[in-house]
Amino acid sequence: MVAISFVSGKGGTGKTTVALNLGAAMASMGRRVMLVDADMLTHSLSILCHLEEEKGLTDLFTNSDLPIKNTVFDVLGVPNLQVIPSSISFGLLARMSRLLNGKKSFVARRMSEISRSAEYVLIDAPAGVSREVFFAASMGDRYCLVAEAGPADLEGALVFNVFARRIGLDSIGIIFNRARTAPPESLKTLCKDIFGQVVGTIPFDIRFVEAFEERSIFYQRYPEAPASRSIEQIARALERLGRYDEALPSLDRTIELKPDNANAWNNKGVTLERLGRYNEALLCFDRTIELKPDNANAWNNKGVTLTRLNMVKEAESCFAKANEINPKRAHDSETALVL
Ligand SMILES: Nc1ncnc2c1ncn2[C@@H]1O[C@H](COP(=O)(O)OP(=O)(O)OP(=O)(O)O)[C@@H](O)[C@H]1O
Ligand SMILES: [Mg+2]
Repeated sequence: MVAISFVSGKGGTGKTTVALNLGAAMASMGRRVMLVDADMLTHSLSILCHLEEEKGLTDLFTNSDLPIKNTVFDVLGVPNLQVIPSSISFGLLARMSRLLNGKKSFVARRMSEISRSAEYVLIDAPAGVSREVFFAASMGDRYCLVAEAGPADLEGALVFNVFARRIGLDSIGIIFNRARTAPPESLKTLCKDIFGQVVGTIPFDIRFVEAFEERSIFYQRYPEAPASRSIEQIARALERLGRYDEALPSLDRTIELKPDNANAWNNKGVTLERLGRYNEALLCFDRTIELKPDNANAWNNKGVTLTRLNMVKEAESCFAKANEINPKRAHDSETALVL
């Protein structure tokens, strides 16, 4: 199971739209997807799904006896797609923040209950960098930024990223939304270094706004639109993430049997890096290097992972070390598995 929260520093970048349409695309690929409306202040996802009057996430976190199934609804007309709406009640919200203060284990238990009924959990977070936002973001294993490729949205994304990293959240990368032109390669490279990767670009299409107002799903109404093709590409990228997740238990088994297997440690590091879990990946590369100090590949992989964390100086010294061990080997900007 993979749980991804869609976030942005600035409001209105398209988080709800992206979560809903990606959910529909992944469901149409046969994946079981659960959408979670964690925007407890505006709950647009619940409105789009015609579920604004129903019990939902706020109730789950304020009533520990409430079974999850009482808050799970089918998204009409989309097999495999379900949603947990979010009821708005300021009274409940206030109670929730009091109740949840320091209760990480309760939130984790609720999340694991939610994830039992789906392969992918897509969480629609509110905008900004408030406590509620980080609460919603941390419900996912990783967060995915949604932003227009312009200065205001990107600055919001940067601010979010700084705070999120500080509290130990991991990023998948960024989705450029509402693109009127293809983002320049230089911007993509920069964003890749800062946010992990550019997961995809969704073009501007005014019919998103119409679909939003009619409470219909763009991907379903306009399957042939270029934006729907982009959504499918992103859905496939997220599916691949799921496969990396699936690979982890078998790597762990190999390491358990042979704790000195440097290649297994390296491959676990690469898998974690591709999943955006950079800090854990670094520990694996350090273990590989401890076992095989002259493994140029592991030094390069460590360098790439440090770059993802914006630790440019430390990354450079790893690349230099890889180069010193193997001068013929050009430094790669991607981590590499050892087969
Ligand atoms: N690719 C797109 N092209 C054109 N319009 C879009 C696109 N994506 C989203 N929109 C429109 O932008 C508006 C805001 O989208 P949405 O509500 O999904 O953003 P949000 O980030 O969830 O907002 P909030 O921060 O308020 O939660 C909506 O009217 C939506 O239809
Ligand atoms: Mg929203």
